[in-house]
Amino acid sequence: MTQNIYDDPDFHAAYLRLPRSVEGLEGAPEWPSLRAMLPPVPGARVLDVGCGLGWFSRWARQAGAASVLGVDVSARMLAGARAATADPAITYAQADLEQPDLPVAAFDLAYSSLALHYIAGLDGLLAALARSLVAGGMLVASVEHPIWTAPAAPGWLTDAAGQPAWGVTCYLDEGPRAVDWLGARVVKQHRTMSGWLAALAQAGFNLTRLEEWAPSPAQLAAHPEWVNAGQVPNFLLFAARRG
Ligand SMILES: C[S@@+](CC[C@H](N)C(=O)[O-])C[C@H]1O[C@@H](n2cnc3c(N)ncnc32)[C@H](O)[C@@H]1O
Repeated sequence: MTQNIYDDPDFHAAYLRLPRSVEGLEGAPEWPSLRAMLPPVPGARVLDVGCGLGWFSRWARQAGAASVLGVDVSARMLAGARAATADPAITYAQADLEQPDLPVAAFDLAYSSLALHYIAGLDGLLAALARSLVAGGMLVASVEHPIWTAPAAPGWLTDAAGQPAWGVTCYLDEGPRAVDWLGARVVKQHRTMSGWLAALAQAGFNLTRLEEWAPSPAQLAAHPEWVNAGQVPNFLLFAARRG
């Protein structure tokens, strides 16, 4: 059952205070890497999967997309997206991606930032995304890295040298993880690296780019508080073409 935690008032309020909510794409340190994976956007019909506040939807139109459909299960996130958007070529729709109902062969690009790791029925969603793309259409997405989603009780440990070390446990046990984040118990879905790649292949996607993203040295210099997170990849970024 879909948790829809982004409609929880306290969680939503905390999420709105994150840099990526306040500053948009520029506040998301992985955005330059994800942007580099995008196919040409001018003229593209774009689907923004788990669009949240609509930052990418608006960016895509400014980059020349013909149209954008942003879908999200959260009414609160969609209200924020609509309030920030004055563009008739952008449509937002409330939809639960666990039961995807998407138009067929309607998009050139499906984009998803940090939403797919919430989806238990990933195979069904990827199949629907493949159907919604034209032949040769691209899926470009970011998800939390399997190293982050694996532990049942995530946290930093202390290694033998007294240094912080991320505790990777339960890696091979794919499935839900309930983790404390922004004052709430948030359910995410853990998949191994091979699990992600197999799901894409099974849906008929051919992987074209894969990046295990971690902050760059320049980003770490600007954000010394990220020094621990910089030890391991934070996000998995990928681009895949519909076969
Ligand atoms: C971390 S936010 C990312 C929002 C946006 N893509 C961004 O990068 O700013 C994750 C989004 O996925 C949405 N989401 C989670 N589960 C979903 C589901 N089952 N169906 C549709 N959207 C979902 C949430 O409501 C939330 O807006």
